[in-house]
Order: sequence, then structure tokens, then C-alpha cells
Amino acid sequence: MKEVTKTGGNPFGCHRVIEPVGVLPQPAEKIDNNFTNLWDNELLVDVDYLNIDSASFTQIKAEQGDDDGAICDRILEIVSKRGKMHNPVTGSGGMFIGRVAVVGEKLRDKCDLEVGDKIVSLVSLSLTPLKIDRILQLNKKTDQVKIAGQAVLFENSLHAHMPEDIPETLALAVLDVCGAPAQTARLVQVGQTVVIVGAGGKSGLLCCWEARKRAGVNGRVIGIEYSKEGLEALRSLKLCDEVIQLDARDGLACYEAIAKMTDGQLADVVINCVNIDDTELPSIMMCRQRGKVYFFSMATSFTKAALGAEGIGKDVDMLVGNGYARGHAEYALDIIRVSADIRAFYETQYV
Ligand SMILES: NC(=O)c1ccc[n+]([C@@H]2O[C@H](COP(=O)([O-])OP(=O)(O)OC[C@H]3O[C@@H](n4cnc5c(N)ncnc54)[C@H](OP(=O)(O)O)[C@@H]3O)[C@@H](O)[C@H]2O)c1
Repeated sequence: MKEVTKTGGNPFGCHRVIEPVGVLPQPAEKIDNNFTNLWDNELLVDVDYLNIDSASFTQIKAEQGDDDGAICDRILEIVSKRGKMHNPVTGSGGMFIGRVAVVGEKLRDKCDLEVGDKIVSLVSLSLTPLKIDRILQLNKKTDQVKIAGQAVLFENSLHAHMPEDIPETLALAVLDVCGAPAQTARLVQVGQTVVIVGAGGKSGLLCCWEARKRAGVNGRVIGIEYSKEGLEALRSLKLCDEVIQLDARDGLACYEAIAKMTDGQLADVVINCVNIDDTELPSIMMCRQRGKVYFFSMATSFTKAALGAEGIGKDVDMLVGNGYARGHAEYALDIIRVSADIRAFYETQYV
């Protein structure tokens, strides 16, 4: 049993920042992951699974030559150096599943958690103090890593109870990207043409489902995928009105294809759900003047998007992919509950 001895912890977790002093835990270079003594406003969790953010996992896989041992070593190295799973290249994290081990005194009346409860974190691993004792299993297909370790959630850190009707690795996958369909619901209007880039991925599918629902019978949802398998899976789910194969990094090809399909009108809304670099400008090129481009991807560069749009004279509203929207977790889980096809497909991938 850990001792809860320290008081006066900051609600945002600043008390665990080691360097640079004075910043918040997310932008910090290094945070304290020593859990021998806890602050009284912290929640200690025994972690079972990490879901590494797709942009981060893709970068580590490429850097380590797809080698399992080297990928595990890199994950351990990042966590030991930074005190959190904060990829220094992509800047992104992921989230975790675990069981509550200690509820700090100050939180007992404020939260609905008890020791032993199974929870999913809804804040990024890029700001979550984490200690990994051992990596037990690495699943390169799902970006999920089974570990023995512990993490701390702060007073203001979002979390959700593990749903009882959905297998936990599936819930982890859905909750990792649960901001995407909730934001899509806010963005897409009846009758609009929506292009979803990386439509066959975890977040892409949920956005396709939501966009199809919002755009209605006079709207149009176009899904862009790259790999042959991704295209086949996306077509079989029938979530999009059209599915096309394009490389999301190829601006001219993307622009010409969407211009042709829309008689030059282009898309009202473009939603970017890829896990690779250099897709900002192609996404912008597919959008009409005064349309909206939503960059959910963590591989998005603000500079490339802003300067790229200016460079081609594109007056579009660009939205940063905030991972949080009120009620986002239940919203995404409900899609899995309502759509038997998406659930069945996800089960083949994540369970
Ligand atoms: N904003 C947030 O809070 C937040 C939260 C979680 C994740 N994310 C980010 O959101 C993005 C999507 O995450 P995810 O978990 O949905 O990823 P995912 O399941 O790995 O899906 C990525 C998709 O991108 C497609 N893709 C890759 N290269 C492509 C290319 N050259 N052209 C067209 N499509 C390509 C992939 O297609 P193939 O499989 O066919 O290659 C796949 O369908 C990632 O960048 C992730 O880091 C953001």
C-alpha cells in the first residue's frame, strides 16, 4: 500500500513537473514518476494496457525497423527518460486501462471511484506520470501494449469507467479516438459533401458513420484510403457513398480526384484521420473556399497547414483536433453499440 503523505498538489499536476520548472505536465520535458509517496489529490492506478497513439506508434515502428524488441526498448527508454509516454518526435501519447489502487484523500468526495474499479484514462499519456515495470505483450496491429506498471491521474484528469458490455481492448481502441466522432457531429451539416482522409482507420470509421448520419440523404461522404486491405474493409462496411484510393500526401492527385467527383465544387468539410506526416496541404486542397478542414491527426503541422493554405490562396477554417468534447466517450461507445457492422469489424481488429 502506497503512502499518501503530500498535500498542496496542483489540480493540473504541475507539482510533478521536474523540467522545465513552471510549465504544465504536457509540454514538460520530464515529470516525476516516483509513486512511493503520493499527493492527496492524486489517483494511483495499476495499469494493464497502454494504447499508444497511432502517429506515435507508426513513428516508433518506422524508426526501429519494425523490430518488436527494439520497439519495446524504445517505449521503455522514453518512459524512463521523461516519466511519461510522450513521444519526443510526434509529441503525442495515447491512453491506458487500469485498476484504481489508491484514491487520494482530497478526491474521495469528489469522484465516483473506489479501489479496484477498472477505468480508462481520457487524458493523454503525454502528460500522465507512468512507470513501466515490464512490457508483457506488444501488439503491432492494434498499437496496444500490455504492461505491468502504474500511472497517476491528477485531480482534473478525465477518465471513464470501463463499460461492462464492450471487451476492454475494443473499448480502449474506441476511447482513444472518441473525440473524433463527437467533433464530426458538430461540424457536418445536412446536405454537405464530406471527405474523410484515412477513412478506414480507427477514428476514420467512426467519423464516416457520424458524417453519413449528419449529411443526410442529400449529402455525400467520400472516404479516402491507401492500402488495398483498408479499401476493401471500408467498402464492405458501406459507410461512405464513395470510397477512393489516394495517397493523402499527393496534393495534386487528391485535388484532381475530388474536383472531378464534385464537378469542381470540392468538399464542404474535410476530416483528416491519417497517422503520417505531410498530409496538411492535400487536405486543404480538397476543401472549397470557406469550407472547414478538421485535423484530428496528431501528425499535423500547424506551420505546414497555415503557410500551405496561404500559399495556395485557400480561405478555409482549420480546426485543431481537440481530443475532448463533452460526452465524447459515451458518444463513441454508443456508435459501437448501435452499429453491429462497425462493432463486428472492430472486434476482428481489436479483441
Ligand atoms: N486529436 C486527438 O485527440 C487524437 C487522439 C487519438 C489519435 N489521434 C490521431 O488521429 C490519427 C488517426 O488515429 P487512428 O487511431 O484512427 O489511426 P489508424 O487506425 O492507424 O488509421 C490511420 C489511417 O490512415 C491511413 N493512411 C495511412 N497512410 C495513408 C496515406 N498515405 N494515404 C491515405 N491514407 C493513409 C491508414 O490507411 P492504411 O491502413 O490503408 O494505410 C489508416 O486508415 C493519428 O494521427 C492519431 O495520432 C488524435
